[in-house]
Amino acid sequence: SGLFTYDPGFMSTASCESEITFIDGEKGILTHRGYPIDQLAEKTDYLDVCYLLLHGELPKEAEKAKFQDMIMHHTMVHEQLHDFFTGFRRDSHPMAVMVGVVGALASFYHDSLDITNEKHREVAAHRLISKMPTLAAMAYKYSIGQPFAYPRNDLSYGGNFLHMMFSNPCENYEVNPVLARAMDKIFILHADHEQNASTSTVRLAGSSGANPFACIASGIAALWGPAHGGANEAVLNMLAEIGDESNIDEFIARAKDKNDPFRLMGFGHRVYKNFDPRARVMKKACDEVLSELGIENDPLLRIAKRLEAIALEDPYFVEKKLYPNVDFYSGIIFKALGIPTEMFTVIFAVGRTPGWIAHWKEMISGPYRIGRPRQLYTGEKIRDLD
Ligand code: CMC
Repeated sequence: SGLFTYDPGFMSTASCESEITFIDGEKGILTHRGYPIDQLAEKTDYLDVCYLLLHGELPKEAEKAKFQDMIMHHTMVHEQLHDFFTGFRRDSHPMAVMVGVVGALASFYHDSLDITNEKHREVAAHRLISKMPTLAAMAYKYSIGQPFAYPRNDLSYGGNFLHMMFSNPCENYEVNPVLARAMDKIFILHADHEQNASTSTVRLAGSSGANPFACIASGIAALWGPAHGGANEAVLNMLAEIGDESNIDEFIARAKDKNDPFRLMGFGHRVYKNFDPRARVMKKACDEVLSELGIENDPLLRIAKRLEAIALEDPYFVEKKLYPNVDFYSGIIFKALGIPTEMFTVIFAVGRTPGWIAHWKEMISGPYRIGRPRQLYTGEKIRDLD
């Protein structure tokens, strides 16, 4: 019709202005509020990054103490929310549970639903960051038939998550500080990534004036797909399917075959065309965790390293600029930490929450209009009924 720009997949359309995250895909640069991701992962903790994304600056000491206090103060969920979990089948995918229970938060916290009220927006942001790990760990505990573990507010954000995942009333579970730090780093590496599919979904949902809990639930739904957050789960399933180094060539051949829909999971990115800076940090974190746990000779890790080496040399992957992305190594860390495959994308969702909220907040704090893409209609011309 010539009236609209046609850009399927948003290959060349900027949907908004944003001050939060910058990506240079050619150079492999990712910054949040100007700070490079590798520096943030090394020198700050996850709550610093949450604060940075939300407020634009890293917190000063007193601000940090206040923010940490606020986040850790809201970690418990309303006791009645427990009943929601029991409505799900035990073998539900935890992402299905998360879409439901995060949306359900809107029915509990009426003091944070008025998006025109700055205080409400702030309380909603804090509540979501505080409660996501609790809900995630509850989804896991429910799936294995164990009682929910209440949060421990004296632990770090990552440490508390490990505690809620792995402690039970019969055993004394000590949080290993190296693993807690690794968990924190994993959350940092997932915290934001500008206008990806789930963040764009959150913005679009938010542009209609929907409440923040509903918007984040929509982001979780979009994240679930294997081309996005679901890739970390798909990577581990793929490594398990390859099973042995001797089978790698067959899978590489399948990935290159145009008639085979199979793709090497954890490779490629819409924006990064040289390397994914998050993957570098993740690989290092992965080595640290495996060495702490004394499992450097993990067979899946051997397959992963070999796969990476082949893909980095093979002309198909080189020409198409397909490099390991953030999801390639995260799954190996999760597995080493004892986290079941189905929980991987849930952890991505926990980590991405401050990014989603920061974008939602940025949008609704300034002038915005409802997001309403147009289309090229290709259906029947107007016709008459007989
Ligand atoms: N294995 C084999 N071939 C691939 C792969 C892959 N992983 N990724 C892309 N290609 C090929 C694809 O077949 C296409 O070939 P051709 O030009 O001959 O048709 C070309 O490379 C470009 O692919 P595309 O699908 O047009 O690229 P895109 O920007 O639309 O998709 C992607 C990006 C990440 C969805 C895709 O690379 C992919 O499916 N990767 C595997 C899934 C994955 O790891 N996703 C996680 C992304 S990072 C974290 C996140 O965003 O959540």
